[in-house]
Order: sequence, then structure tokens, then C-alpha cells
Amino acid sequence: MPHARHLLAIEGMHPPQITELLDVAEAYALLNRSGNAPRDLLRGKTLINLFFEDSTRTRTSFELAGKRIGADVINMAVSASSVSKGETLLDTAATLNAMQCDLLVVRHGQSGAPALLAQKVDASVINAGDGTHEHPTQALLDALTIRRRKGRLEGLIVAICGDIAHSRVARSNILLLSTLGARVRLIGPPTLIPAEIEQLGVTVFHSMEQGLPGTDIVMMLRLQRERMVSGLVPSAREFFRRYGLDHARLALAKPDALVMHPGPMNRGVEIDSAVADDPERSLIREQVEMGVAVRMAVLDLLSRGHSRNV
Ligand code: CP
Repeated sequence: MPHARHLLAIEGMHPPQITELLDVAEAYALLNRSGNAPRDLLRGKTLINLFFEDSTRTRTSFELAGKRIGADVINMAVSASSVSKGETLLDTAATLNAMQCDLLVVRHGQSGAPALLAQKVDASVINAGDGTHEHPTQALLDALTIRRRKGRLEGLIVAICGDIAHSRVARSNILLLSTLGARVRLIGPPTLIPAEIEQLGVTVFHSMEQGLPGTDIVMMLRLQRERMVSGLVPSAREFFRRYGLDHARLALAKPDALVMHPGPMNRGVEIDSAVADDPERSLIREQVEMGVAVRMAVLDLLSRGHSRNV
């Protein structure tokens, strides 16, 4: 994405753009491990993290990514800001814009909020998760993690399991993986699979026993009860019994199948601890590591493509 100004969604990105970003992120992953990241690359640039929803991984890794390549990073505590006094999203963004912010990382509960801000500010806007719409950097870090371990994405069979309906991670992953030639299966109860999702080119299964055989990657998702309008699932125990991933279920996938989870995990609800913590099969920690590399690549590439208007 050499001339892109914002990163708002995977939708609309073309294979060469995604591949370039993954290649740059791969280089940052190696630089991070050797401690040789370019410390002055973003000297003089300001990054503001504006998170209207809770986050551990995304917010922290954007902060780390920005600092590692020399940006000044500010974390806005939304609950302690003038948002709590009724200031609108647009007024908050306009205020930050007037402070000459270069990169604005936004997480918001409303789908489309980062895209709206991108029309109003001079800064480059990065979507850190908006409603049930998209979480593009999560899909990019997932793709990088898979590519590093499997050597490719094309032709792999990836099962995304659990609460698809409320998951921006699932949506971004479906779009990215399909764009790069992987085949995506969705596994979950009918209440948690959106109607007409097959239009995105995925295959839907309502049982793990039917959906897992032949899969290379098993990606588990958290039940997002905070986004559910009513009880769409039975008890957590019943959900685990039917859709939880333990070693017995994992044995249905390919013998070398690997397990992923974007976090935060609910152990014993969608994934058994023995699987989540299995160093031979679980990529969950590597996903977090690749999150920093991918966010460094995004900040680097967006900064190359955009000089702030003054
Ligand atoms: N995967 C993810 O977005 O995690 P956080 O909510 O902790 O940022």
C-alpha cells in the first residue's frame, strides 16, 4: 500500500497490497527478534491511540510499534476525556487533529466510525476494530503468523469457529484469506452464523465433527456476549460441549493442523487450556508477537504514503 493514506478495512485491498504489507511485517518480525528495528524512522511523528472500547493486545502493540520506530505515542483515556462530558466523536477527532497528530488509531463500537473520521481529519486513520465490521490489523497479523508457519496461504483450509456473527475478526479474516487464495470454512451454531455469509465464498458447517476434517488451521473465536441482543447460545458448558476445541476435537483436523485465537480467550468456553497452551499446536503467542510487527509495518507504510497537510 505505497500510497495509501488510511487503513480502514481489508475489503478493497488487492493481493499485491496485502502481500507487500506482509513482506514488510516479516522484515520487522526479524528486526524485532534481533533488536535492530530502525529507532528513528518515525521521529517527529505523533501517534494517538483513541480507544472507545477495551483492548489489551491491539492498543499495547500499537503503542509498542510506534515507540519502537521512534514515534511520539499518546494513549487517550477515553473514560477520562471530554467524551465523558458529551463531546462527540467528530469534535474529539477535530481537537486531536488540531494538535497536529499524524496517525490516529481508532477502536469504536460503531461500525464505520473510523471511516467517518478519515473523512474529517488530516491524520492517517487506522481502524483498530469497529463494531462488527472489521479489524484489519488482526487479519494481517493472523495471515503473517500462518504464512510464517505454513509457508503459504494459498490452498490452505482454514476453519473459523464459534461466534462468527459478532466478530469483526472473522469478517476481516474471511476477506483477507479468500483474497490470498485460502479456503475458509465457518463452524458454529445457526444463531451465530450470519445469514447469506456464503456470498463471501465460505462454506458453513454447524458441527465441529463435520467441519474440522481436512483443515490446516483452526481459528477459535470468543463468544461476544456483550454484543448479543439476547441469549443466542445455551450455557457456556453446553457451548463448549458442542463447539469447544479440545485435543479430541483437534484430532479431527489434519495431523499438523495449528490452532489460533485472536484473544481475549475464554478458557473452557470456546477453547480448552490444554490446547491453548500446547506449544506444538497453538500459535496464540506468536500471533501476539506478529501483532507488533504488523503494526510497525502499517505505521511505516502509511507514513511513507502521507505527509500531513499543514
Ligand atoms: N484481538 C484483539 O483485538 O484483542 P484486544 O481486544 O485485547 O485488543
